[in-house]
Amino acid sequence: MMKLSHIAIACPELAKLESVFAKLQLKVEERIDVPSEKVKVAMIPVQMSEDFRLELLEPTSDDSPIAGFLSQRPRGGMHHVCFEVDGIEAWEKILIREGFVILPPGIRKGARGQALFIHPKSMGGVLVELEEIHSEE
Ligand code: CO
Repeated sequence: MMKLSHIAIACPELAKLESVFAKLQLKVEERIDVPSEKVKVAMIPVQMSEDFRLELLEPTSDDSPIAGFLSQRPRGGMHHVCFEVDGIEAWEKILIREGFVILPPGIRKGARGQALFIHPKSMGGVLVELEEIHSEE
């Protein structure tokens, strides 16, 4: 089976996005110049969840958030990046204190437990989900 290697996020200024991820306790390990691709790269190590999955999403209703996403991008595309956390209530408090926009507000029932979504405007244009997985569900 193929192994997921990395997820790449384009941004106008590395330092700003690095500081956003630092608030999620995700810190840059290495900065690399890649002249052949004309980019600067910051590599942030992330532990892989033992429950890591690719998640494919199809809306079941016209008012689904995924239907809204597809109305902008009929062919589909990358929707969100999700990090598994422990203590999602504590994370919600930290995020609110740090000024992140949680949208829709609050902790929600996700596919495998509880989840919250950080609006792309707080995360360099990427919708980020935090998920606390509950195995008995
Ligand atoms: Co998800």
